Amino acid sequence: MSSHPSGAGQAKNAEKAKSAAEPKEREAKVTVPAVRAMKAQGRRIAMVTAYDYVTGRLVDEAGADIALVGDSLAMVVLGHETTLPVTVDEMLHHTRAVRRGVKRALLVADMPFGSFQGSPAEAVNNAARFLKEAGAEAVKLEGGIRIAETVRQLTQAGIPVMGHLGLTPQSVLQYGGFKVQGREEAQRRALVEDARALEEAGVFSIVLEGIPADLARVITETVSVPTIGIGAGPHCDGQVLVVHDLLGLVEDFQPKFVKRYAELAKEARRAIEAYCREVREGLFPTDEHSYH
Ligand code: KIV
Repeated sequence: MSSHPSGAGQAKNAEKAKSAAEPKEREAKVTVPAVRAMKAQGRRIAMVTAYDYVTGRLVDEAGADIALVGDSLAMVVLGHETTLPVTVDEMLHHTRAVRRGVKRALLVADMPFGSFQGSPAEAVNNAARFLKEAGAEAVKLEGGIRIAETVRQLTQAGIPVMGHLGLTPQSVLQYGGFKVQGREEAQRRALVEDARALEEAGVFSIVLEGIPADLARVITETVSVPTIGIGAGPHCDGQVLVVHDLLGLVEDFQPKFVKRYAELAKEARRAIEAYCREVREGLFPTDEHSYH
């Protein structure tokens, strides 16, 4: 008997598939104003990183609001110890691949270390490349008051900007490691001022990374743009995780703020081991996997 359904069966299956897909299809493309509006609407924002066509597609199909091509790709994809070495060209290459997989989510790309600190003009030139050459819809920059003028010029140039405060990984050498920020009073006050400066400069949202939950709450209540937390507790307007962390693809280290929703590294190793064994034992391929 054929494994293909009959005409009537086919139509029924197509109908079933359509109604299962409909709710997602009906959801509109996520835009910068839509993300901004989610705070007032009390809708929490779900952001996930993506680094290539496959992760972009998965993140988009799963219904994330924002796909972030994070410079964390330096670590989880390229194997560097920090985010510092990744270049604009490498980030563009990965953003293009993610672009091909993402249809509905807002696509944000990280401006890597060294691509925006030199001058606002250099930042505008580099950021424009992410929109023109890679299809990003916004860029993310680490820093507060010291980059406010750059953020202003980017937004005036029509480039939407997501801010990033707290444990900003591009400053890891200054911190002397990946250390929680904002525990001391002076630092807390500075971070609230940074958030205000970013809002005033025109960001449409701010990532808060590696800060105490009560400080994230204060910042979230202070600014009118949404905050998106990672290691910043439950009071932010949204959350972001690195896709490799949430899928359990990186096993060497699990920071406190990471929740693994799958154990894909274990599953992948099991599958590859099974394949290697079957090849060695002559069990793969069988007739089923051969052309005649
Ligand atoms: O690079 C990255 O993945 C990030 C997120 C963790 C916010 O900046």
